[in-house]
Amino acid sequence: MPSKVRIVEVGPRDGLQNEKTPVAVADIVTFIQKLRDAGLQSIEGGAFVSAKWVPQMANTDKVLDALEDKNGIVVLVPNEKGMQAAIDAGVKEVAVFAAASEGFSQKNINCSIDESLERFKPVMDMAKKHGVKVRGYVSCVLGCPYDGDIAPAAVAEVTKKLYDMGCYEVSLGDTIGTGTPDTTRAMLQEVKKHVLVDALAVHFHDTHDRAIDNIRVALEEGVSVVDSAASGLGGCPYAEGATGNVDTLKVLALMEELKIETGVDAAKLKEAGRFIRSVLQKPAMLSGPSHPKNAMGWIFMAFWGAQGF
Ligand code: HMG
Ligand code: MG
Repeated sequence: MPSKVRIVEVGPRDGLQNEKTPVAVADIVTFIQKLRDAGLQSIEGGAFVSAKWVPQMANTDKVLDALEDKNGIVVLVPNEKGMQAAIDAGVKEVAVFAAASEGFSQKNINCSIDESLERFKPVMDMAKKHGVKVRGYVSCVLGCPYDGDIAPAAVAEVTKKLYDMGCYEVSLGDTIGTGTPDTTRAMLQEVKKHVLVDALAVHFHDTHDRAIDNIRVALEEGVSVVDSAASGLGGCPYAEGATGNVDTLKVLALMEELKIETGVDAAKLKEAGRFIRSVLQKPAMLSGPSHPKNAMGWIFMAFWGAQGF
């Protein structure tokens, strides 16, 4: 078991990418600030992906613009275009994302696994030139909504390719939360034959309430980086039925039980979760005018007010 764990908070990206209504820039920035205040030092702040595919991430440039300190903010990029946007925004860390299954790769990024790895090569060159760190993701490591069961060897192969390409860390994603402690252990033991455990992270969605048991196994296998989302936000637009990421508070409770240090303040984290839940409960037009739909809301409200209703 590690004595210290780094939590990668994915709520502002993996969490909000799945919300029906895009969240206002100011609210995302406040959410990130509250997460930072809680002691989280790695936070996914958005994604430079196609707004036609994932409109919820369309304001990532504005979120970054509003954050004076970009240290520890990670942004997803699928290709050179996304990487250029990240460089222009002054991002210091990006994440490229591949999959262990062909079905998910096609649905999520519209290309095969091999094509995605080819697309990442120029991204890695750009990152090196601009001193940007690159994290890698492998999705569907314990099951795919399109292809079913996934062989641990397939996970190991993509993980090694991402690591050899220059990803300093590869996060293994149980995208639809079908993993069990046994399948988690078997998958990790296979991946560890090819990539040092220090370069691995785990990323569980909590669909079947098994994420914490699976994380316990990952810790036993020596993994010391865990992805999670405040208030259990999340899902994936290309994995129907995938519920939220494991709740960061639940991860903190496990670490406390196991006497593993995280540097995160549970009370402040709870407050960050409460804040974003209150934002998500508001109608879009009340959560701020920075999204076009919200701007229409404000115009409507101004008109409504002027009529004396
Ligand atoms: P495509 O349609 O195949 O791309 O999409 P294309 O190259 O043919 O371009 C089509 C249009 O997209 C063009 O615009 C491009 O300029 C534009 P048009 O000429 O039609 O106006 N485009 C872009 N725009 C903004 N940013 C870009 C970009 N690239 C092209 N970077 C693409 C391919 C990868 C872009 C698309 O499939 C996409 O954006 N997919 C997003 C998928 C996504 O964000 N999924 C969620 C994140 S992954 C996840 O949640 C799993 C994870 O949490 C781990 C786990 O749980 O397992 C990480
Ligand atoms: Mg995810």
